[in-house]
Amino acid sequence: MKTVVTGAAGFIGSHLVDALLAQGEEVIGIDNLAVGRVENLSLAQQSPLFRFVEGDICDAELLKKTFEGATSVFHLGALADIVPSIERPEAYFRANVDGTFSVMEAAKHAEIQRVVYSASSSCYGLATQFPTPETAAIQPQYPYALTKRLGEEIVLHWGQVYGISSIALRFFNVYGPRARTSGTYGAVFGVFLAQKRAGKPFTVVGDGTQTRDFTYVSDIVNALIVARNSHVFGESINIGSGGSYSINELVKRLGGDIVYIPKRPGEPDCTFADVTKAKQLLDWEAKVSFEEGIDRILQTIDMYADAPVWTPDQIEKATKSWFTYLGQEAVKTTR
Ligand SMILES: NC(=O)c1ccc[n+]([C@@H]2O[C@H](COP(=O)([O-])OP(=O)(O)OC[C@H]3O[C@@H](n4cnc5c(N)ncnc54)[C@H](O)[C@@H]3O)[C@@H](O)[C@H]2O)c1
Repeated sequence: MKTVVTGAAGFIGSHLVDALLAQGEEVIGIDNLAVGRVENLSLAQQSPLFRFVEGDICDAELLKKTFEGATSVFHLGALADIVPSIERPEAYFRANVDGTFSVMEAAKHAEIQRVVYSASSSCYGLATQFPTPETAAIQPQYPYALTKRLGEEIVLHWGQVYGISSIALRFFNVYGPRARTSGTYGAVFGVFLAQKRAGKPFTVVGDGTQTRDFTYVSDIVNALIVARNSHVFGESINIGSGGSYSINELVKRLGGDIVYIPKRPGEPDCTFADVTKAKQLLDWEAKVSFEEGIDRILQTIDMYADAPVWTPDQIEKATKSWFTYLGQEAVKTTR
């Protein structure tokens, strides 16, 4: 069985590659290293079953060659940090929308049997129903969320029109070892772990009472594989821990000082997955508790020794456009 993973050098992709290799699959990982790191693949590189292709998912010819003879594709390659998408919508469109189009065209050409897409819970925007089911309103609030949603539509549409058996999993706040350590201002774990490692205060957004459905990466990897192995197609399915914890609870568990920074418009007060559909269709549910997950990630804190340590001033600069656009009165009143 030959399997392709796009975004293989990234946080979730690299864990997925390790898991697929451990169960004896031949794996080809593709990544343009825009964000991902080859170090994430150091275990995989030791396996004769693994091959890494450095390249862009928008490169149709490269994808056609890479997909040849494969049976399934996990499509995780994307620009995945939320905040920079407001300043770089074109880059996000190219990677997340055009890139997904190329993946599905190559899948069609190579007669891939199964495509699993990593969709995002950000499609729910400022949800009002908790836990949030898949039937909740789709209301992306910023370019990252929109591009991930468009990718989801492309994947399912290609399934419907061209008969490629595909499924989309909507991940909720994934965390675990290798959570992004570099680059742009992004996911909370990368930011907090670098701050903790450097002995600096945690930059908590708002008053820290906002809650998130933190889902441990091994549960996500398990869901991806279970979904690929299932016969379910044409569906979007929430993949979350099924719980929701506040940022204040998170920093208490991590341990350290806090500095509060302004709440950002467009970001939800709560994310909380209704995982009934995942249980019913995939017989999947998360296994790693919040407490256990935090303990495990803390054991890898040295990975963040070279990561950028964000200060409130730097974050203010990095989020300036966010406040300029998403804080506009006109935007608020149309909601
Ligand atoms: N981490 C989360 O909480 C979360 C939540 C919802 C959805 N997702 C989705 O899961 C997937 C993986 O996320 P992650 O957290 O591992 O992010 P990540 O940034 O660590 O991994 C994404 C990988 O895609 C690669 N990539 C970007 N553009 C590319 C291109 N044009 N061609 C080839 N490779 C490219 C990057 O270099 C990176 O290695 C993404 O699609 C993301 O949108 C993640």
